Amino acid sequence: MNLSGCILIISIIFAKKILTMYFNLSEEHEAVRQAARDFAQQELLPGVIERDAQMKFPTEQVKKMGEMGFLGMMVSPEYGGGGMDTLSYVLAMEEISKVDNSCSVIMSVNNSLVCWGIEKMGTEEQKQKYLPILASGEWIGSFCLSEPEAGSDATQQKTTAIDCGDHYLLNGTKNWITNGGSSSVHLVMAQSNPGSGHKGICTFIVETSLPGVVIGAKEDKLGIRSSDTHTILYNDVKVPKENLLGPPGNGFKFAMQTLTGGRIGIASQALGIASGAYELALNYSKERKTFGKPISQHQAIAFKLADMATEIEAARLMVHRAAWMKDQGMDFGVAASMAKLFASDVAMKHTVEAVQIHGGYGFVKEYHVERLMRDAKITQIYEGTSEVQRMVVSRAILQGQLYQPMWSSQ
Ligand code: CAA
Repeated sequence: MNLSGCILIISIIFAKKILTMYFNLSEEHEAVRQAARDFAQQELLPGVIERDAQMKFPTEQVKKMGEMGFLGMMVSPEYGGGGMDTLSYVLAMEEISKVDNSCSVIMSVNNSLVCWGIEKMGTEEQKQKYLPILASGEWIGSFCLSEPEAGSDATQQKTTAIDCGDHYLLNGTKNWITNGGSSSVHLVMAQSNPGSGHKGICTFIVETSLPGVVIGAKEDKLGIRSSDTHTILYNDVKVPKENLLGPPGNGFKFAMQTLTGGRIGIASQALGIASGAYELALNYSKERKTFGKPISQHQAIAFKLADMATEIEAARLMVHRAAWMKDQGMDFGVAASMAKLFASDVAMKHTVEAVQIHGGYGFVKEYHVERLMRDAKITQIYEGTSEVQRMVVSRAILQGQLYQPMWSSQ
């Protein structure tokens, strides 16, 4: 065989390996997906409609998620976690989100915001103290960035943390806090040097048992109704100095870095919502008959199914790519924003279509698709609205980081 023949064979073997890495899941990843699928069907599906209607926090289900290792999947084994990669995490998130999005947002905030933040920025003492109890689900955590006057414009933090020697004095109000009524620990962003903009923001690990932490009103929401979303007030809370997370003044960058990973989690939640609604619509369309045949045999419905399957597959590729880039240590910020932007739009669009395919049955609470449609909306809002994701992507384009023209019009 000549040299070019050898090069060709090596290229084919190499290309096959890369394609396998990208498009076929390993046995380990398949096992994670199957375990999450079984868990969601056996443990989360029973009672999901009632929990949603009654806004009942899924205490038992969260306990079981902890026992199964879903609440600290990416935490290192030395701190009690599963030591898994981001791809495993998104596979599990997709399966759990097909069934119960209150549980999947609890899982997402605990894994990709709270545990990841502590493992990334924490001191050894902080990691040893907090990660094992968070990864096991004994405690769950909240990520407290949003405020009444600081939502998308997150640098405008009004919560203050005044350095008082051996402690910081924390005062302010946070809102839209996921797990707000049930978490034992908060990661709180606060301004420690008013007038210095984002460079004065610090992050603190705040135990909710500290005097002055007040759990405010619980929100009555459109979707994810059994997850508890609260306003939190901090009234003269003395936060020990050792609970500062990361260097002083690094809190905004910490929040942005953490949210970048979190956006992959929400993208996978949106993917799960879309694929769950698609599976329900497909099943229903094969059973329901009109004009003498299953509605799936009518082109009007068959084409809807084709569009759903195609766009869900595109969203899945984007989510997996962002997760893979994170696992490779690459800069995954734009990929995460694109995945969240696209997957959340797909979730909204195709849950509406799934309801349409179900007709009147889709409009009643006995069928799961109406709940998935309501759950889909929040994926376009939390952990950065779709407009914020467009800001991230368009800035990257205009700063020359991606998709530059290959030709000029001259
Ligand atoms: N990683 C690291 N650093 C980052 C960063 C990132 N991803 N993004 C920005 N920064 C840094 C910048 O480099 C800059 O640093 P320098 O000043 O040293 O250069 C600094 O942070 C400020 O950056 P910008 O000028 O880009 O900041 P901005 O004010 O223009 O805001 C934004 C950018 C993308 C709009 C940002 O404010 C944002 O993401 N807002 C949305 C907030 C959000 O997602 N909130 C969700 C709430 S949490 C939640 O929903 C959880 C839940 O409970 C489910």
